[in-house]
Amino acid sequence: MEQIKKGQRLIFFPLPFQGHINPMLELANVLYFRGFSITIIHTNFNSLNPSTHPHFTFHSIPDGLSETETSTNNPLLLLSCLNAHCCDPFRNCLANLLSDDGSEEPIACLITDPLFDFTRSVAKSLKLPRMLLRTGGASSTIVYAAFPLLWEKGYLPKQESQLEEPVVELSPLKVKDLPMMNSCDPQRYYQFITEMVNEMKNSDGIIFNTSEDLEEQALITIRQEFHIPIFPIGPFHKWFPTSSSNSLLSEDDSCISWLNTKAPKSVVYVSFGSIAAINEAQFLEIAWGLANTNQPFLWVVRPGLIQGSEWLEKLPQGYLEALNEKGHTVKWAPQKKVLAHPAVGLFWTHNGWNSTLESISEGVPMVCMPNFTDQMVNARYVTDVWRVGLQLENGIERGEIEKTIRELIAEKEGEEIKDNMSKLKEKTNLSLREGGSSYQSLNGLVNHILSL
Ligand code: UDX
Repeated sequence: MEQIKKGQRLIFFPLPFQGHINPMLELANVLYFRGFSITIIHTNFNSLNPSTHPHFTFHSIPDGLSETETSTNNPLLLLSCLNAHCCDPFRNCLANLLSDDGSEEPIACLITDPLFDFTRSVAKSLKLPRMLLRTGGASSTIVYAAFPLLWEKGYLPKQESQLEEPVVELSPLKVKDLPMMNSCDPQRYYQFITEMVNEMKNSDGIIFNTSEDLEEQALITIRQEFHIPIFPIGPFHKWFPTSSSNSLLSEDDSCISWLNTKAPKSVVYVSFGSIAAINEAQFLEIAWGLANTNQPFLWVVRPGLIQGSEWLEKLPQGYLEALNEKGHTVKWAPQKKVLAHPAVGLFWTHNGWNSTLESISEGVPMVCMPNFTDQMVNARYVTDVWRVGLQLENGIERGEIEKTIRELIAEKEGEEIKDNMSKLKEKTNLSLREGGSSYQSLNGLVNHILSL
């Protein structure tokens, strides 16, 4: 695609977590091909590799994180440390870019993440417009925006006895689907979420990695409640046939040649994203559940996925050998290529928003096993709204795993779900075509940026 220059520069500042980096860099690519020059400011922590995007300019800033802080497995703690340490280095970097006399291109705006709370005051003090990329879906955003109501009505904090009850104001969610984090004090989490929503409402516009065709109702609600411009222009990664990898871990391409040896739609792809963790007992239930289905499977076992274990050492001896090439494990996969591979028939996912959207864009039905926050909302939409997957509702148990996978991949019951999924895939991808909702919204976004 040829770039027709707009003569303006955009500054991106992604939150340094995989699920936030991917959509931010994909968005930067979309806007680059709409004529903007791109500068990325990033932290030293989870630092980005400039060689993957030679058409962008990269600036790294010190984040002041200690070794204890970077090795915590509490994402909220890490986030508050980043917010505490990054403000000054970010301000200095941005001020330098704005005062660069040699630059021929004016800076049109900053595009950052609502979880970076200091960026509002920095952008304001430098008189730079600030737009936000909400990396989660629109449906989970309305749940976060409803936190005061959910608290007032007694749905939150969650009580064990109420988990199966419906949240009538947010149908079809149940209390157990409300996005909380077990590792975090509920009051602290409430405060954190209300701050994030407040950031979104106080921005010059929000960009969503979704489409009107996928989340129409939630987007209507956001427009009514937020009173700022909203641009759903996703799925971002489908704007380009191939895009460079943004992975922080190195991708193991051996899985593609392994997939090449498998029959169409026969493989179960299993991955729980970049943060979710499971315990040893759950790991073993998953291993036996997968083996018992007798279907080929590709399983991403990220270092750190299993609490208290380095990698695969907790697998029973001889487990993989006994499967005789039916099971393949990697530390990190080229996920978008995997989901687009004709051999993949099912995605067992934690329902991070990126994974959910990537699965929908390739028409792969899902087994849902949400872990925390927005993943529970995404999973409920997959099973009860779009009806393109099934959820493991009773925890991680080998019998249920086997039954659910068989139902979706090998048996008649799964046909309706597969049919719904191929329709949803088509509808979602059509929104990027000329005249489609995301196509139009992208035109609106470009005009909006130029008018800021
Ligand atoms: C987090 C949250 O969990 C998620 O709910 C939120 O919406 C975004 O931030 P994460 O848990 O990592 O992200 O999940 P997800 O949103 O699915 O993002 C993971 C990304 O890593 C996806 O883009 C996926 O393609 C990629 N990935 C994952 C790989 O490239 N290879 C892998 O092996 C696994």
